[in-house]
Amino acid sequence: MSQKVTRRQFLNYSLMGVGSFMAAGMILPMGRMALDPLFQEDAEGDMVTTSVTIDEITEEPMQVDFTFEQEDAWYTSEVTDFAWVFRDGDEIIAFSPVCKHLGCTVTWAADDNNPERFFCPCHNGLYEKNGNNVPGTPPTGPLDQFEVGESDGYLTIGQVVPNQLV
Ligand code: FES
Repeated sequence: MSQKVTRRQFLNYSLMGVGSFMAAGMILPMGRMALDPLFQEDAEGDMVTTSVTIDEITEEPMQVDFTFEQEDAWYTSEVTDFAWVFRDGDEIIAFSPVCKHLGCTVTWAADDNNPERFFCPCHNGLYEKNGNNVPGTPPTGPLDQFEVGESDGYLTIGQVVPNQLV
């Protein structure tokens, strides 16, 4: 007994096959993009080694520059950033210089009237040495910190974390 395939059935099978092939071609890349972050190595835990030795760090906040690679989709670029770094007893503190008001750059002891505070020149924002925002000035929260570490005697800088001191 032979089973004949009608012209209509043949056309249906062909269209289903081609449709499935095209759907797979569209859905697989979307699925890969959606799941890609799960399979990527967690680069966020990386620490960047600076050119500053641990011994150089004093109780006076100093600007420490560091460079890291930043990936935006398929584009990798080198970004230079800096931290305000100082010693607090045995602890090394590194503050992000980004003001918590509108994101300007804060500076240590730049305001003559507040020589022991971080100062933001954009709207006269002030922070205590522990990063706490001074009430009555525009910033709405304390300065963030960077994770810090040591590698062969040099300071390493990691991710930005909320202020741990206040
Ligand atoms: S951005 Fe710093 S005080 Fe406004």
